[in-house]
Amino acid sequence: MAAADVTVAQSAGFDNEDDDEEILSPDDLSEYLTAGTKEAHDRAENSPFAKDFLRGRIKRELFKLGTAALYYVYSALEEEIERNKDHPMFAAVYFPSELHRREALAEDLEYLYGPDWRERVSCLAAAKPYVERIRWVGRHDPGLLVAHAWTRYMGDLSGGQVLKRVAQRALKLPASGEGVRFYHFEGIHSPTAFKRLYRSRLNELEVDVRMKERLVAEANLAFRFNLEVFEELQETGKGIKEEVQDSGVPAHGDMGGDISK
Ligand code: HEM
Repeated sequence: MAAADVTVAQSAGFDNEDDDEEILSPDDLSEYLTAGTKEAHDRAENSPFAKDFLRGRIKRELFKLGTAALYYVYSALEEEIERNKDHPMFAAVYFPSELHRREALAEDLEYLYGPDWRERVSCLAAAKPYVERIRWVGRHDPGLLVAHAWTRYMGDLSGGQVLKRVAQRALKLPASGEGVRFYHFEGIHSPTAFKRLYRSRLNELEVDVRMKERLVAEANLAFRFNLEVFEELQETGKGIKEEVQDSGVPAHGDMGGDISK
């Protein structure tokens, strides 16, 4: 390990267990990714959609559309991961039972849209190029797939844990977890400990500086797609006449009570 080793105290802030220190080097791929996407992360976190969401100002219809978009993204991601699970640039970070979200998203959509959800959901325009990029990468440049996996799964295990609680409260979803299964990783007891394991696996991958830079560029592309999905949701929200959900029961009949309608 390089002489310039630094100690990075992991401060996910949302789960306090297993919070001991982790020794990482700036040359480690995990650190390249964190540092190289910091600006993009700041942009995503400070986007109007994210800020409204964090304040509990999320319209039920937007939450449903966002969940559907994630279903298309994770279906593509997990299909390409399966295709490449033995690839030397992916095998070490292949954790299907701990991470994969497609089934959880399908359950959420069934709850949110009803049993005929498959006929009722469609993919947001902004999510389409994202899905296409993941499929292209999986087939033609699979070494880059890890950038997409890292961007989503590590995000879900971080900020995603807060979003779950906000959504449950704002949309009055049941405490039993229906509608937000996506945010709950049944096979992961401690997100902090799992993120540490994931980082150490990432850092075992054989990557030269050129490849690290390509991975950072791909992760930034993934962040851009995610931001574009947020922007489309924000824009769509302007046309939805629905009470924001943070101040009580929704006033509009079609959104009240049984949200599976
Ligand atoms: C990490 C919050 C949006 C991807 C984190 C962390 C927090 C956070 C608190 C933990 C940082 C740490 O461990 O020190 C948020 C909030 C968001 C948001 C509040 C807005 C709602 C996003 C988006 C993405 C994303 C849109 C990309 C899809 C990531 C990734 C990490 C992360 C990949 C792991 C970074 C690492 O381990 O170095 N986020 N985030 N986040 N987030 Fe987000």
